[in-house]
Amino acid sequence: MKRIALVTGGNRGLGFETCRRLAKSGFTVLLTARNPDKGNEAANELTDKEGLDVIFFLLDVTNKDQINTMSKQIEQQFGRLDALVNNAAIHYDPWQYAIDADLNLVEQAMITNVYGPWMLCQAFVPIMKRNGYGRIVNVSSLGGSLHYMQEGGAPAYSISKAGLNVLTRKLAAELQGTGILVNSIDPGWLATDMGGPGGGPVQEGTRGIIWAATLPGDGPSGGFFYEQGKPVPW
Ligand SMILES: NC(=O)c1ccc[n+]([C@@H]2O[C@H](COP(=O)([O-])OP(=O)(O)OC[C@H]3O[C@@H](n4cnc5c(N)ncnc54)[C@H](OP(=O)(O)O)[C@@H]3O)[C@@H](O)[C@H]2O)c1
Repeated sequence: MKRIALVTGGNRGLGFETCRRLAKSGFTVLLTARNPDKGNEAANELTDKEGLDVIFFLLDVTNKDQINTMSKQIEQQFGRLDALVNNAAIHYDPWQYAIDADLNLVEQAMITNVYGPWMLCQAFVPIMKRNGYGRIVNVSSLGGSLHYMQEGGAPAYSISKAGLNVLTRKLAAELQGTGILVNSIDPGWLATDMGGPGGGPVQEGTRGIIWAATLPGDGPSGGFFYEQGKPVPW
């Protein structure tokens, strides 16, 4: 039976390349995006031009009703979800500082970058538990590492990614023995809309994500990694 993977923010950047790589690794990929035109266009590029097994689902990660409807649909249609890649994120904000940050912007970042992945985990962990198998990949960042926070700046992004890392730790601890492994991955600096020019190619950023999405049963859980298993300090 083919494995099923879901990627949030799959229409562009790292998410799009992750969909391609997972499909090439043998998954049926559920490419999700909040904009139906962009999502369909991205999925069509992978199916029509590259012959990959990719299906578009509409998903704004801040929309709880959409998440719950989609998880029911996926359970009915496939009966499983093997890998959940929480990739979608907003507001890399190096231009502002915690001391006078726009807290509305911080709140938006928390809702998309922390509550979004959290709601998705809550919706899909029961399905994974029933199947005794799941790989949850939280796409994080060095920006969320407390170890590297000697400098200020980018508070919305850093605090939300640190929060996402806490979610990884908590879920991994709570899901021990269930067959579900949960890890945070730092994809490195990438030349996307978020990363801007100067970063590496998105293909490089997918290495750690694919690794974490396909870990064997005795693989790590509750870790923070770069590439294929290099630990990142919390
Ligand atoms: N690029 C880097 O250097 C870098 C470094 C470290 C970590 N990361 C992490 O890697 C991940 C991907 O980053 P990227 O560089 O590919 O960013 P990006 O090019 O800005 O793409 C972000 C994606 O997230 C989607 N998105 C945003 N809000 C959403 C929502 N509410 N619901 C659904 N989708 C939503 C966007 O959709 P729309 O097209 O509709 O806006 C887009 O598909 C992020 O978690 C980021 O923090 C990136």
